[in-house]
Amino acid sequence: MNTGKRLYPAGEKDTILSLDFILNVSSWSFHPVMTKRDRVAGTHRVPGDKSITHRALMLAALGRGVSHIEGALTSLDARSTARVLRQLGATITPLRTAGGVTVRGRARFTQPRDTLHCGNSGTTARLLLGLLAGHPFRCRLTGDASLRRRPMRRVTEPLGAMGARVEDRGHDGLPLEISGGQLHPIDWPLSVPSAQIKSALLLAGVAGQVPVTIRGGEGSRDHTERMLRHLGYDVASRDEMLRFAPTGKLAAFDLSVPGDPSSAAFLIAASLLADDGELAITGVGLNPTRTGYFAIMAQMGATLAVETGADSFGEPVGTVVSQPSSLQAVDVASDAIPGIIDELPILACLAARATGTSRFRSVAELRVKESDRLALMVSNLRAVGVEAAAEGDDLVVQGTDAPLAGRVTTGGDHRIAMAFMVLGRQHGARIRVDDPDCAAVSFPGFAAALGRLSGGGQ
Ligand code: S3P
Repeated sequence: MNTGKRLYPAGEKDTILSLDFILNVSSWSFHPVMTKRDRVAGTHRVPGDKSITHRALMLAALGRGVSHIEGALTSLDARSTARVLRQLGATITPLRTAGGVTVRGRARFTQPRDTLHCGNSGTTARLLLGLLAGHPFRCRLTGDASLRRRPMRRVTEPLGAMGARVEDRGHDGLPLEISGGQLHPIDWPLSVPSAQIKSALLLAGVAGQVPVTIRGGEGSRDHTERMLRHLGYDVASRDEMLRFAPTGKLAAFDLSVPGDPSSAAFLIAASLLADDGELAITGVGLNPTRTGYFAIMAQMGATLAVETGADSFGEPVGTVVSQPSSLQAVDVASDAIPGIIDELPILACLAARATGTSRFRSVAELRVKESDRLALMVSNLRAVGVEAAAEGDDLVVQGTDAPLAGRVTTGGDHRIAMAFMVLGRQHGARIRVDDPDCAAVSFPGFAAALGRLSGGGQ
């Protein structure tokens, strides 16, 4: 057990502004009203971690017997994973907020009758491809328009080198067909430091019972490695190299999913931009490959305290406390990017309210997320009155303290929607987000959670 408290440097508190916030969910616009100070306070929780939920569902479905996953995320992406796993023969109870989910796995998947539709979820598609590579049948995968645009060869190429056959009809993306079977061991250098590629190969190793060596991938999230170790597999990480040996046998397990730190980032950002109060997010995952954004926020002058409690299934869990802070611009180096890949939209929105010009270096991966996040962050920041630019692969944001107003086009991207909803709840802002409901991809009830911040939480 790792217990400790870490205090990030205190920022200067804003004591001037006065406002209240009215969240109008039905008309998808966010209007602050000047009545009293903007207070973000209380103790809150965020929904279960998306990455851990996907992996837990998949490993439980491939294990033999009944697993119970407490606190599983119930978002649209998690439902996509549950749906395709059911098509592959697992029995999974409905994903509901209360009570967790029970998965009955049969040790092997059975050939699905229909196409596996992965919805909006890149993690579902890529990790599933790894699992399917180890199964001796053919099946077809597709996704929504956003997912069909996202590159899959980064995963299908190494899986092909392991022995799977993939037919993508000359297009680097879904739909595609995969036929798995007997796999060979692989030693693969990653083209991008991506946890999804790394995990697809590790899961192919599990399903196909073959050794896997992966080079590169530093800084990307390591949930698959942690979970496999916890389940008894040998996963060694040394000299920027990961070695998986198929030593274990997948049994059923019970797991409690911590709150998603990427979801917490939006609420913490709202607290930093507020005038008053103290926000505590409890039960949140503190895996160091996910909390890189704490350090960036602290560099910007954020007042944050992090307290780590007991581990859960090999994952550190704890509490993050934040307070309103005066933010300064930041220059983020390229090697920090894999660790904050999902927090870049909200960090860019914080940079929009900081003093000075911020630069996020080498963020080309943003172009192949749920939307072209680099282009959409720039166009939306400009649309609400912030100077921003893509300079090569860098994102540059000029902070302003002028009230922000304008229309935000999310492109159906949950993290763009949530980032601008946070900006939109700020003093004097008049920001209209075209599709706030798409937040449900990772954070069901996000608008309501944002509204509760002013009320002080539970
Ligand atoms: C994820 C990995 C990240 C992240 C995504 C979830 C995962 O993608 O952006 O939201 O669960 O493995 P990459 O690994 O491709 O960067």
